[in-house]
Amino acid sequence: DEAAEHSVQSVEQQLCTLITSSLRATVPDLDVEPMLEVSKPGFGDYQCNNAMSVFSRIRGSATNFRNPMAVGQAIANNLPQSNIIESISVAGPGYINITLSSNWIAQRIQDMLVCGIKTWAPILPVKRAVLDFSSPNIAKEMHVGHIRSTIIGDTLAHMFEFTNVEVLRRNHVGDWGTQFGMLIEFLFEQFPDWEDVGNQAVGDLQSFYKASKKRFDDDPDFKERARQAGESFYNPYIPPVLEDLTNKGLIVESKGARVIFVEDHPLIVIKQDGGFNYASTDLAALWYRLNVEKAEWIIYVTDVGQQRHFHMLFTAAKMAGWLPEQNGKKYPKASHVGFGLVLGSDGKRFRTRCSEVVRLVDLLDEAKARSKAQLIKRFTGNGQIADWTDDELDRTSEAIGYGAVKYSDLKNNRLTDYTFSFDQMLSDKGNTAVYLQYAHARICSIIRKASKDVEKLKMTGAITLGHPYERFLGLHLIQFTEVVEQACADLQPHRLCDYLYSLSLTFSKFYTNCQVVGSPEETSRLLLCEATGIIMRQCFHLLGITPVHKL
Ligand code: ARG
Repeated sequence: DEAAEHSVQSVEQQLCTLITSSLRATVPDLDVEPMLEVSKPGFGDYQCNNAMSVFSRIRGSATNFRNPMAVGQAIANNLPQSNIIESISVAGPGYINITLSSNWIAQRIQDMLVCGIKTWAPILPVKRAVLDFSSPNIAKEMHVGHIRSTIIGDTLAHMFEFTNVEVLRRNHVGDWGTQFGMLIEFLFEQFPDWEDVGNQAVGDLQSFYKASKKRFDDDPDFKERARQAGESFYNPYIPPVLEDLTNKGLIVESKGARVIFVEDHPLIVIKQDGGFNYASTDLAALWYRLNVEKAEWIIYVTDVGQQRHFHMLFTAAKMAGWLPEQNGKKYPKASHVGFGLVLGSDGKRFRTRCSEVVRLVDLLDEAKARSKAQLIKRFTGNGQIADWTDDELDRTSEAIGYGAVKYSDLKNNRLTDYTFSFDQMLSDKGNTAVYLQYAHARICSIIRKASKDVEKLKMTGAITLGHPYERFLGLHLIQFTEVVEQACADLQPHRLCDYLYSLSLTFSKFYTNCQVVGSPEETSRLLLCEATGIIMRQCFHLLGITPVHKL
């Protein structure tokens, strides 16, 4: 709450508040949501599009408005006075073009420089969220298929945490199975020293498994302990949850199984053999997250193949009254964040040359190795590499390599399949993490070379947005808040990548057109550089990428 108090509303939210109040004055009998978007260049900064739809709702009734243009004029005239807005014009069939005050933009950036980037975090309507992501099968090694859930989920977690939402990260590994319980219990028996268990490597898993199986068969007491150790966390909650659903008349018998009919399709919750399954565990987990953990938003990150499962699960939860139906209350809410496949260059599911699954650790190692080779090649010629310690080179290649893998995943709309290509992701041109790392490092070097105390400038200097490219950059910077807000609302990290990339292009244009060091506007322009660096680093952080300061 304290942090939220210091937060500022996004520009978009502030404009929407003004528009809402104007709409109430203009058409008091209608309930209208403000329609606002960022303008195309040359038409102000934001555009309000309410006039046309408002007119179509009131036409035919006794109204003073002859056409949408007149409605647009009225909405524009009724906008409350505000220091945000410089000017307003109404164009075409009633588009309201809003131009922000350059002084206000500049002041907002200065405030952020003084009070910190946290004050630019958007304000979300929830306090606590459960984020169920990564979620591999623990019986197997993680492979490239898990990369998307882990990368996307981790980014969503950072995004929500930045907006002051408490995030409970959940790795839903599902049923451990009795075999795992057996191995776990046996491990504890063999290494009674608790502290020591984690340090033991079981060399021969085969014989270890055999020995534990023998204990399992011979000793009923061990058998029971193994069963307990192998149970999923949610197991004890399944029977009471299913009982609640049965009492509500939702669970019925069908072909020897117990099912919930969701839109005429059976969701099996007790199998024919009496056992529980994926759906019953997920029902118990959802109940727990809503009622015990009291999360207002529960988010599941898996491949799109599971869309149907989650649709059935959420619909069943609505039938049970756990989740509000769509139109009225919005929270608590459950969302499935689906994603497409990772493809190889052959357009098929990504595999190694010998058609095995790709181990995640090998993939990350290779990204790092390639980026190291690239750095050495790039810098050997100009002698810069000599400045770097081995450790620095190592850390830089890791930041660049891992960042490249993450970014090339996150920049796509998550629902589409994408082709995994080291060459593409490690290119220093185009929308890649490598390009962005260079762009960021360049900003750092501009500031270093100016040899001014930027921390002091932040407190004493002022920003003026006189040149058109200064203003473009300033406007872009303050839009950070609403971009994060929308990326959170739609659970779409790629919006953040789009923003980061266009920010860095906007910075480039500014830097090419506006001399920084040695110009009369040096202080103001250095502060713009510093603000751009801060926003880029914050984007990197949200995307799980370590920024490089020197390249
Ligand atoms: N482990 C599951 C799988 O590999 C994904 C679990 C997703 N989370 C959930 N609550 N169902 O398919």
